[in-house]
Amino acid sequence: MKFLILNGPNLNMLGVREPGIYGTVDYEGMVNFVKEGCAAIGVETEFYQSNHEGSLVDAIQSALGLYDGIVINPGAYTHTSIAILDALKAVALPAAEVHISDVTKREPFRQISYAGMACQVHVIGQGIAGYVQAAAQLKAQIEQQ
Ligand code: DQA
Repeated sequence: MKFLILNGPNLNMLGVREPGIYGTVDYEGMVNFVKEGCAAIGVETEFYQSNHEGSLVDAIQSALGLYDGIVINPGAYTHTSIAILDALKAVALPAAEVHISDVTKREPFRQISYAGMACQVHVIGQGIAGYVQAAAQLKAQIEQQ
């Protein structure tokens, strides 16, 4: 099983960016942690990060036929991007939404998730471990089908 792990804007700043909220592990450290955690549960991973909405849409479209599922943390585009929602719906791949922080306990503008409307799995506020938890839950759902 092979998943595309997508990260949106400012997630390349992990480790530097508001460490009290997002932790002290940098993007590369997160990638290594998630890659290893997923390998341990039998999931192969490829990673892509972009600060640009259209690039994320392109990556989602390109995933069709190449991956069994998508694990996505769209960053701030979570709360604004109907284009990312539509791309996820267009490819209709099994998808999981991840947020490192607990967005449910943050500002009102973080309370809507467009991308999440196209996701079968939601892991919120579990730090970077959430990516592995999301991959595990998505894998289990795919295997049940
Ligand atoms: C985030 C939460 C978003 O609200 C924020 O804009 C991010 C990161 C998270 O992982 O907790 O960039 O998706």
